[in-house]
Amino acid sequence: MSNEPLVLGIETSCDETAVGIVRGRTLLANVISSSVEEHARFGGVVPEIASRAHLEAMEAILHQALNEAKISLTDIDAVAVTAGPGLVGALLVGVASASGLALGLGKPIYGVNHLAAHVSVDLLAHTQEVKPTIALLVSGGHSSLLQVDDITSSVTKLGESMDDAAGEAFDKIARVMGLGFPGGPAIDRDARSGNKTAIDFPRGLTQSSDWETRPFDFSFSGLKTAVARYLEATPNYARADVSASFQEAIVDVLMQKAIRACASTGIDSLVIAGGVAANSRLRTLAQERCDKAKISLRIPEPALCTDNGAMVACLGSLMVSAGRAPSPVGIEAQSSMSVTTVSVA
Ligand code: KG4
Ligand code: ZN
Repeated sequence: MSNEPLVLGIETSCDETAVGIVRGRTLLANVISSSVEEHARFGGVVPEIASRAHLEAMEAILHQALNEAKISLTDIDAVAVTAGPGLVGALLVGVASASGLALGLGKPIYGVNHLAAHVSVDLLAHTQEVKPTIALLVSGGHSSLLQVDDITSSVTKLGESMDDAAGEAFDKIARVMGLGFPGGPAIDRDARSGNKTAIDFPRGLTQSSDWETRPFDFSFSGLKTAVARYLEATPNYARADVSASFQEAIVDVLMQKAIRACASTGIDSLVIAGGVAANSRLRTLAQERCDKAKISLRIPEPALCTDNGAMVACLGSLMVSAGRAPSPVGIEAQSSMSVTTVSVA
């Protein structure tokens, strides 16, 4: 019998009800049920619908994960759950479920940060943790550049988006072009047949004065406006060219700033995490630019970039192994949990 911790992780911060199980850094199960189709006609996630969907899906997803991992509930050493940030009603379903399990089993609970969990999932594929590393975290709700000295205890924010998150920009522009929700995967697909240099869209916060005052912050609102104006002024626009040029503007800025963060901190390791890290163009460009700058790059496989339970279980397992204290019984959901708070103390 392995003495590595067997950890069950629950994720319900947005529209995915997900349960992952890991032993140490080995992934045993990763089951996801998404309510995305129920939100599609509203063009975005409707919190009430998401919460109800979590309630309806939770029990089945939990059992499916246990079956997949070929373990029973009583084998578990610890329960991890996303405590924030996210939609409060949605988070509550996960937190209440995890609390019930932990209490019933008499096992510790780790209420962890969704964003730190995104970054930590990279460690399922690697035995060696690189410390420190720069992390570019790009999801539907957040875009930040972080310095990670230890993913279980020390995350520092270098910069973040002043307005929309990168994923949010993808979703909004996709909606204007009738590409459906979520927009990121649709634009990624559409862009493959387009010309990324067809339209020169603006790169936010990359003027020379910005590099002095806001080197690691992002802004995508100017880009969004520029694309909307272009679409209005060009009734017969070539959609694939717009997708490719818009996508290029986003990933170019993300990578310019990530490389700069590595250079100015002297850290030659970069992890890219969150739903937008699944973007095929970002993955290619990141590799090119990191090779050139001699930065070692890690990006989790695409299925582990978007929301999942494995990342929550992974961070929980790392917390157990690092000897971090569990969270108190009766933890609350923290909808606006700061990216620098790794877990609920
Ligand atoms: O991390 P995530 O699954 O959920 C949040 O924590 O927000 O990220 C979801 C975001 C959505 O905005 C979605 O459009 C975007 O990630 N996304 C992508 C791709 N896949 C998902 N954006 C660009 N290209 C993709 N392939
Ligand atoms: Zn996420």
